[in-house]
Amino acid sequence: MAPLRFDGKVVLITGAGGGLGREYALAFADRGALVVVNDLGGDIQGDGKSSSAADKVVAEIKGRGGQAAANYDSVENGEKLIQAALDAFGRIDIVINNAGILRDRSFARTSDLDWDLIHRVHLRGSFQVTRAAWNHMRKQKFGRIIMTTSTAGIYGNFGQANYSAAKLGLLGLSNTLAIEGQKYNIHCNSIAPTASSRLTQTVMPPDLLEALKPEYVAPLVLWLCHDQCQENGGVFEVGAGWVGKLRWERTPGAVLQSHNQPMTPEAVRDRWDQICDFQNAVKPSSIQEALNTVIEALSDKNSENVVANPTSALTSTTPGGSSPLAAVGQKLSETSYSYSNMHCILYALGVGMSTKEPEHLKFLYERHEDFCCLPTFAVIPSQASMMDGGLSSIPELNIDLTQLLHGEQYLELYRPLPASGTLTSRSTVADVLDKGSGAVILLDVHTYHGEELVCFNQFSLFIMGMGGFGGKRSSSKAKETVAPPTRAPDAVLSDVTSRDQAALYRLSGDWNPMHIDPSFAAMGGFKTPILHGLCSFGFAARHVLKQYANNDVSKFKAIKVRFVKPVLPGQTIQTEMWKDGSRIHLQCRVKETGDVVLAGAYVDLQNVVDVKVDKVPEVGKLQSDLVFAEIGRRIKDMGAELVKKIDAVFEWEIIQGGQTAARWTIDLKNGTGSLQKGPYSGKPDVTITLSDEDFMDVVQGKLNPQKAFFTGKLKLRGNIVLSQKLEAILKDYAKL
Ligand code: NAI
Repeated sequence: MAPLRFDGKVVLITGAGGGLGREYALAFADRGALVVVNDLGGDIQGDGKSSSAADKVVAEIKGRGGQAAANYDSVENGEKLIQAALDAFGRIDIVINNAGILRDRSFARTSDLDWDLIHRVHLRGSFQVTRAAWNHMRKQKFGRIIMTTSTAGIYGNFGQANYSAAKLGLLGLSNTLAIEGQKYNIHCNSIAPTASSRLTQTVMPPDLLEALKPEYVAPLVLWLCHDQCQENGGVFEVGAGWVGKLRWERTPGAVLQSHNQPMTPEAVRDRWDQICDFQNAVKPSSIQEALNTVIEALSDKNSENVVANPTSALTSTTPGGSSPLAAVGQKLSETSYSYSNMHCILYALGVGMSTKEPEHLKFLYERHEDFCCLPTFAVIPSQASMMDGGLSSIPELNIDLTQLLHGEQYLELYRPLPASGTLTSRSTVADVLDKGSGAVILLDVHTYHGEELVCFNQFSLFIMGMGGFGGKRSSSKAKETVAPPTRAPDAVLSDVTSRDQAALYRLSGDWNPMHIDPSFAAMGGFKTPILHGLCSFGFAARHVLKQYANNDVSKFKAIKVRFVKPVLPGQTIQTEMWKDGSRIHLQCRVKETGDVVLAGAYVDLQNVVDVKVDKVPEVGKLQSDLVFAEIGRRIKDMGAELVKKIDAVFEWEIIQGGQTAARWTIDLKNGTGSLQKGPYSGKPDVTITLSDEDFMDVVQGKLNPQKAFFTGKLKLRGNIVLSQKLEAILKDYAKL
């Protein structure tokens, strides 16, 4: 692969007159960047100033043939630093917040000045500089920012109360900038370095200082700032040639309060071991994930179902007599799967490849010079390990296969699949989750070609009726789905499935009669046999390969999907795609009905090739129209009463395919109340934005509005408190 270059990029490095900052400046300049070397030139404690530190580094860069300009302002004057970059080079692309001082004191001896100076240079300085750069980065839709935090902040360090607090403040700042900057391609990451410099030379022995050269930190900073790097919001420890990433871990905890009962300190004391037990810990990576637990605790409490102690759950059983948690970690017997070119071709036909399209020929004709196997064929050998008695051989699970639904699928390929050969699969029950109405089994399958690991699959299998054994609801082992961006899709591809699509796909090894036998399908509540979820999955993956990878299978890395609804053979699968770096978010619908069939899905590619913007999706009929019609009728009947009770104007924005598809105004403030299609003429009390589907789930009671809000599905503007009356309106008056 090509070396990483920064030609034409303008980098500002604060405190670059020595130590780490100087090393970054030299490294960026050596790789073509235009560097602004900032340094106030004071002493370690922040006293004094001089231009010589920055000048020396600029001279060094120029001596090596690079381009650089000096700036001597304190980072507290952020605007001046950015202006220096604009004056010298006309733009600003990358900001490395590195300037720093130390005023170590034991906490009791820390003066106001010790506290304030440290905060002014580290935290306020980084804020000032970054804010001055922010709008330039937003406009150009590119920016890379580094915050320099410290292990002193992450773990605490004697004598550094002032410094620890400021340094961890920088991490919080970075976390939020990563979120706010994402949509503008502004990425913000933090590093906690350990390196020899004037800040550390008095506290470390010479041998160690030698091993901790700043040049062992700079490469991480350069990579994080490159436009190929999609990392955002990460925090890394780095030093001595080693780099590691950090994240948060949280115990599953305990719900200590049940319905109508007070929460007491005694309950906290009595469950302390459980609260602090990191076995089965989760790793929330966003505020939504963190809040989900609180919301789940709420719903557990409301159903008077206090979460059981995970250790006691190990022995608990379901009504059907299984003890699912005892199955965690169990291995299924190893299976081997031999296949030839013919199996690859049969699979390709099964997922809709056709000789109609010339570029499909390499998947359909074994003598084609580029003959290859579709990446998603990798589910077939791993699925073979579950069939033939695989899962049902685990007595602790005691699975009734008629109650099994395939919920989600994750597949990761480590190399393109051979076009023929023998693969062995080793499967493990990675986790079992208790979802109340059922259990989710996470089955991890590693598939090998000889000794080489070829791919990893994770099947999420929902077993109806197996819940209620007191297990946890989520797992750090689960490969999670990811919601697509809210903008309109970047590209849409669709394909009509044939009447015999399921009949063809099943020949690849999924013999479930649900997909061919009408009487069997009828037992499952379907009018006709349905397409295999993994068949739609194959359609989706090849749509992404076509759109963004020129059908090059070596570009494929991973795919995750959630199966939401079945497709019927003969219907059209429409794949909506959003490019986000090398991740392609996707969602599939049945074009004829508008129903989403695959959700929260994404494909990760090695290298994105092409962003041809195709047509925008057709906006189908909105299901919410019917509900609003019903609400309109009820307002006519009892509007006056509602106005008295609610006294507010609600504006609704209904989203479909990432776009605003309708606006409605429910006026329960004026006159006898009214419903009108369109926005409110004045300022509504509350504006509620959500997708057509989520709206339907809310009115049907399938989705709790509070939960929808916390998970970002429902957005509220205006008087949020009034939104509490929403549930009343929807429940009492939609009655659907
Ligand atoms: P250093 O002292 O060699 O470099 C810091 C530079 O910042 C100095 O050249 C100084 O003149 C400049 N500076 C100080 N106040 C300034 C201001 N108000 N405006 C502009 N420039 C200013 O120290 P080192 O080790 O290279 O530190 C770089 C960063 O890494 C600092 O933020 C430090 O807290 C951090 N860090 C370093 C660690 C290490 O092991 N060296 C450990 C953890 C964090």
